[in-house]
Amino acid sequence: MASLSLNHHNLLLLLFLLFSCDLHSTTANRPQVFDHSDWISEESTALDKWELKQPPQDPQLNCESWRFGVETNTVRFWSVVPQECVEYVKDYMDGSQYLLDSNVVANVSIAYANSLNLSGDGKDVWVFDVDETLLSNLPLYAAYNYGGADMDDGAFIKWADLAEAPALPASQRLYAHLLQLGFKIFLLTGRYDYERNATEKNLVQAGYHSWEALLLRGPDDYETTAVVYKSGRRLKIEKDGFRIRGNSGDQWSDLSGYSCGDRTFKLPNPMYFIA
Ligand SMILES: *[C@@H]1O[C@H](CO)[C@@H](O)[C@H](O)[C@H]1NC(C)=O
Ligand SMILES: *[C@@H]1O[C@H](CO)[C@@H](O)[C@H](O)[C@H]1NC(C)=O
Ligand SMILES: *[C@@H]1O[C@H](CO)[C@@H](O)[C@H](O)[C@H]1NC(C)=O
Repeated sequence: MASLSLNHHNLLLLLFLLFSCDLHSTTANRPQVFDHSDWISEESTALDKWELKQPPQDPQLNCESWRFGVETNTVRFWSVVPQECVEYVKDYMDGSQYLLDSNVVANVSIAYANSLNLSGDGKDVWVFDVDETLLSNLPLYAAYNYGGADMDDGAFIKWADLAEAPALPASQRLYAHLLQLGFKIFLLTGRYDYERNATEKNLVQAGYHSWEALLLRGPDDYETTAVVYKSGRRLKIEKDGFRIRGNSGDQWSDLSGYSCGDRTFKLPNPMYFIA
């Protein structure tokens, strides 16, 4: 009987636990993609922070120049696509340019892979990111102004659970070619471990198969930036005796840090930035 009674102290504790669980779920469940606080890493400068607080509202902003800055890792730590560039990004993503650019990346990757002499010991590895690298979340982002509108925390997870993201055709071509050449494929994603089933289902439905491992964020990585988390996982791959010959991703945080691989391949993505 006594155990059912809630004294003042227990009530406070209960409220605290409920509240902190809530806090936990709104931060931990958040895909890194949309957790703006994580975008400010130690590396960010005062200028980056200023830019984040005050997205450019410059009528003279040239959107092609902005995109060039984004793709070359010059413009960083942006939270949303500048409003004056939403139309530009829409045209880029929905028109032919996105596919053409992706095809150039795939073709160069294939030419490089063909030029290598694989050892034949099964230790030659290619690392792929998942979102905007193997799978396209364009149907979701189109509903959020092509990156011009903030997405609410649960939206990405809800979308990912549907497992309906289509394949990026150029990457699918590269992926199949690498398997044929005898590469081991490692998938390294910023998605969380509880999204494993949906992610596997989506990858298979999109036509991917035979990967060596699908690496997702575990609880220890929930608060880590992508560049730190991914570097650590790649180092582990190397420590397990594999050689990372190629590494493909749409974010510089896929391709920088350490253990980046012999050669990196940057896919286009003007819709969002991940540190
Ligand atoms: C990429 O390679 C394919 C197959 O060889 C070719 O059809 C296509 O035109 C190439 N695309 C680009 C953009 O170079
Ligand atoms: C691969 O092997 C061939 C034949 O032995 C050789 O001609 C070529 O230079 C090698 N390529 C590389 C990148 O080592
Ligand atoms: C994931 O799939 C496995 C195997 O099909 C199943 O045992 C497990 O319960 C699933 N996990 C979740 C969280 O749905």
